[in-house]
Amino acid sequence: MQALSLLTGENVQVELTSTPQWRRLLELGKPPTLRELFATDPDRARRYRFGCADLTVDLSKNWLTDDILRALVEVADASGLSDRRAAMFAGEHINSTEDRAVLHVALRLPRAGSLIVDGRDVVPDVHRVLDQMSAFAHAVRDGQHLGYTGRSIRTVVNIGIGGSDLGPAMAYEALRSFADGPECRFVSNVDGADIATALAGLNPESTLFVVCSKTFTTIETLTNATTARDWLVSGIGDERAVANHFVAVSTNAAAVGAFGIDPQNMFGFWDWVGGRYSVGSAIGLSLMLAVGPDRFSEFLAGFHTVDKDFLAVPTDQNVAVLLALLGIWYANVHGAQSKAVLPYSNDLRRLPAYLQQLDMESNGKSVGIDGKLLAHTTGPVVWGEPGTNGQHAFYQLLHQGSWLIPCEFIGFARPNRGPQHHQDLLMSNLFAQAEALAFGKTSDEVAAEGVPPHQLNHRVFPGNRPSTMILADELSPRILGELIALYEHVVFAQGAIWGVNSFDQWGVELGKALANRITPELVDGATVPAHDSSTNALIAWYRARRPS
Ligand code: F6P
Repeated sequence: MQALSLLTGENVQVELTSTPQWRRLLELGKPPTLRELFATDPDRARRYRFGCADLTVDLSKNWLTDDILRALVEVADASGLSDRRAAMFAGEHINSTEDRAVLHVALRLPRAGSLIVDGRDVVPDVHRVLDQMSAFAHAVRDGQHLGYTGRSIRTVVNIGIGGSDLGPAMAYEALRSFADGPECRFVSNVDGADIATALAGLNPESTLFVVCSKTFTTIETLTNATTARDWLVSGIGDERAVANHFVAVSTNAAAVGAFGIDPQNMFGFWDWVGGRYSVGSAIGLSLMLAVGPDRFSEFLAGFHTVDKDFLAVPTDQNVAVLLALLGIWYANVHGAQSKAVLPYSNDLRRLPAYLQQLDMESNGKSVGIDGKLLAHTTGPVVWGEPGTNGQHAFYQLLHQGSWLIPCEFIGFARPNRGPQHHQDLLMSNLFAQAEALAFGKTSDEVAAEGVPPHQLNHRVFPGNRPSTMILADELSPRILGELIALYEHVVFAQGAIWGVNSFDQWGVELGKALANRITPELVDGATVPAHDSSTNALIAWYRARRPS
């Protein structure tokens, strides 16, 4: 972090931190503690509670005062955020390094909507694919689309990676309570154990593979799909079975055809949908197969409600922008390097992993849109685990560790499954954690409990650790859509304020290229061109042990 903030010179972009709005923010410094803020303002909880669609968002346990909020809003307003947001919603090519529009918001526009991109209304295209998905989902769920030997489909195996896996995998887990279709399994890792585990116990005659890859060139996905095809063909004993048991989701019809999947069995999407923003596209097909087209529509409607909110609500009430600004406040002014996302819902256990890609692949950049190095830090490390598991693992560090780690808690009034008294216990833990982080326990309070002096410091909770609470009635398809859209727009707003292109991912390319080079070198007898001495030694170590 220091290294970057010390950057100087012509090739460095300092627009954000050299503005008068930024200087005003810095002058405000750290506010009084949360204890003090709550003690002096009995109305604080109400004043800092915001609504976004069906979500209630309590910001009161953050390092916020009205002055800080005003200064942050001025930073957002001066950053060009609203112009960039308007440009995104208008279909302009804001992904400048790839010369593409960024239009995941078009995926959830109602049928009657319209959005012209490069001279073409994309809404009819979106609904054509949604209709194709619905028809297929109905056919599979109702037993009209059968396996090659006439059996109905009982299991769907989604093969994809990154955005072609994390979205549907996370959403399937989240909406398990609503799943009344085939069971879904997800394969992403090129580690053969992943597909072996997914295929264990399955009958090829009743298994459908959904191969998801925007590019259809991703080595992990193509390797897993090939292994799956071999398993299917050898299990059924007829190559022609592939037609009944494989569908693809991609933008690359030629590569789908070359793989051996009839492009008739392909569900398309468009280059203006980024992988990590694609769960509302045909990439969500497995989810639709599991929960049905109607619930998938509710899921999309949830996204759309938040999209409208993000576009229309003024900055000082706009929850996505406020969450983005808080992240910037903690990261760029107070040095936070990570944020924890802590869903108090076991069904949201994959949400932190999903958000890691959404946030870190979008805003993990050190170069601004103008190609200059940034003088400020950008996206944080995002991590988390569902409550209460995290409490018994890493919350010690959250409460008494030495890092500033803003926390985002997510909780629900009603359980999706299981008895209400479990939910009561879960939610009491959620509220208690946020309370403990904010207010801690002073040395006097600890001493008053009779704790001996030599233990006092160990048992003090410093408090003043900021957190945000996101609440909703239940984890329904609609609410899940709202939550994801909210996080998408937080990431967008932060990227816009930091001045980065949140929609490319050049940083993943070098490792892919080097792996492609190393793969043939691992085989005994192959020549190993000069890498560095460490990589050469690692390759030699592997070759010496690799079973031939
Ligand atoms: O390597 C990163 C990445 O390009 C992600 O952005 C994307 O979600 C993932 O790979 C999978 O890509 P594809 O859908 O083209 O297989």
